[in-house]
Amino acid sequence: MKCLSMGLLWFAAWSAAPVALADGGDAGARAWLQCRACHTLGAAEPDKVGPNLHGILGARAASRRPDFAYSPALKRSGVVWNEETLDRWIENPEEVIPGTRMAYAGLSDPERRRALIAFIASATRPE
Ligand code: HEC
Repeated sequence: MKCLSMGLLWFAAWSAAPVALADGGDAGARAWLQCRACHTLGAAEPDKVGPNLHGILGARAASRRPDFAYSPALKRSGVVWNEETLDRWIENPEEVIPGTRMAYAGLSDPERRRALIAFIASATRPE
C-alpha cells in the first residue's frame, strides 16, 4: 500500500510539472527519459534497441540508419515523420504501425507529447 501511494504521489508530481516552454524545456527532457533506454539523439551516437533518431523530423520511416534491423511493418509504412505523425506514433505506436518492433505502450498526455516532440526537434536538428 505504501508503495502504491508513493507511486501515485510520484505520478501526481510528474503530471503537475509545468510544460509548454517553446523548446519542450524540462517536460520534454523528462519525457525523453522514457525513450532513451532504446534511442540516442546525437549525430555520432550508435543505435541501441531502437535506431538513433538524429534528424528524424522530415525523414521517411526506416530510411536513415541502413544498418538497423527495422521491422518490415515500419519499412512498408511510407510514413514521413513530422510533428503530427510523431504525435500519433508516440501516443500509440502499435496502432499507427501494426507489427512494429517498438515495444512502447504510448504516452497519453498530449501536453507531454508536444513537449517531447519539441525536445526531439531541437536535439536532433541536422547541422
Ligand atoms: C523498448 C525500446 C523502445 C522504447 C522505450 C522506445 N522505442 Fe522508439 N523504437 C524502438 C524500436 C525497436 C524501433 C524500430 C521499430 C520497427 O522497426 O518497427 C523504434 C522506432 C522509433 C521511431 C522510428 C524511427 C525511424 O527511423 O523511422 C521513432 C520516431 C521512435 N522510435 C521514437 C521513440 C520515442 C519518441 C520514444 C519515447 C516516447 C520511443 N521511441 C521509445 C524501440 C523503442
